Amino acid sequence: MSVSERVAVVLGGAGTVGSGIVKSLLEKGFQVAVISRDGSRLEKLKHFLPASLQGRLHTLVGDVGSEEGAEAAREAVLKTLGKVTDVVSCLGFSWWQEGPPHTQSREELQRVLDTLLLSTFTSWKAFFPLVRDDPSGSYTLITGGAGERLLLPGTGFLTLGAAGALAFCRVLREEYPEIPCKLNEVKINMGVTTPEHLGPGYVNHLEVGEAVASLVEKRRVSHAVLTASSPADLKTLTVEGKL
Ligand SMILES: NC(=O)c1ccc[n+]([C@@H]2O[C@H](COP(=O)([O-])OP(=O)(O)OC[C@H]3O[C@@H](n4cnc5c(N)ncnc54)[C@H](OP(=O)(O)O)[C@@H]3O)[C@@H](O)[C@H]2O)c1
Repeated sequence: MSVSERVAVVLGGAGTVGSGIVKSLLEKGFQVAVISRDGSRLEKLKHFLPASLQGRLHTLVGDVGSEEGAEAAREAVLKTLGKVTDVVSCLGFSWWQEGPPHTQSREELQRVLDTLLLSTFTSWKAFFPLVRDDPSGSYTLITGGAGERLLLPGTGFLTLGAAGALAFCRVLREEYPEIPCKLNEVKINMGVTTPEHLGPGYVNHLEVGEAVASLVEKRRVSHAVLTASSPADLKTLTVEGKL
């Protein structure tokens, strides 16, 4: 199947990490669908992209954080584009430093788990059946090092949510060991941001986008955890499609 026939859904594609992935997939020739709860974020995404790429971008306001919302988004994507060949899931939020656990409420923990874990599950449940039995399909989940350690004091709830996402990825690999589609996790052990906000410990979202888009395009590995801990790792992933 040529790249121009491939249709990628980028869950969280209007966000910092997702927008880099969307741009790179469009540059490679994919059709790309992005769902966001906020229409203004979708407008911002369009303005970020060169006009030459915008024709293959398909945006949709929706909430994939519930089973009903995710199913409605899936049906809307299928109605517009007819099929989905690849899914990249990078739902969540960029940062959390609301304080140590004894200062937090149950509602706040619920919000963190909703955004990082439960939406990753509900969207996976709706979109995975579209690609799982397709040998030329893929499902890629983006995770981060926050799931394994506090990035700073006061980020414990980020760690809880991100750890849930790491565990969910492991469960998928072990529960579905022999599916035809490529099922991978890209774990980014660095902060990711836009070029104007780069600082120590951060990497450009465009470099992350190139690495993830290359993994999706080349389809060289499955059931892998591709851990990127440096810009050099991202470069290798971009060139080789694996680490
Ligand atoms: N940023 C980093 O430094 C970094 C580093 C390593 C790993 N990561 C991974 O990348 C993920 C995303 O980070 P980011 O910096 O790109 O965050 P972000 O800029 O806040 O983007 C997250 C995106 O997820 C979307 N989203 C969340 N819940 C949704 C829902 N229920 N329905 C539809 N869309 C939903 C948001 O869309 P709307 O709010 O517009 O609906 C937003 O576009 C993190 O959770 C983490 O797993 C990030």
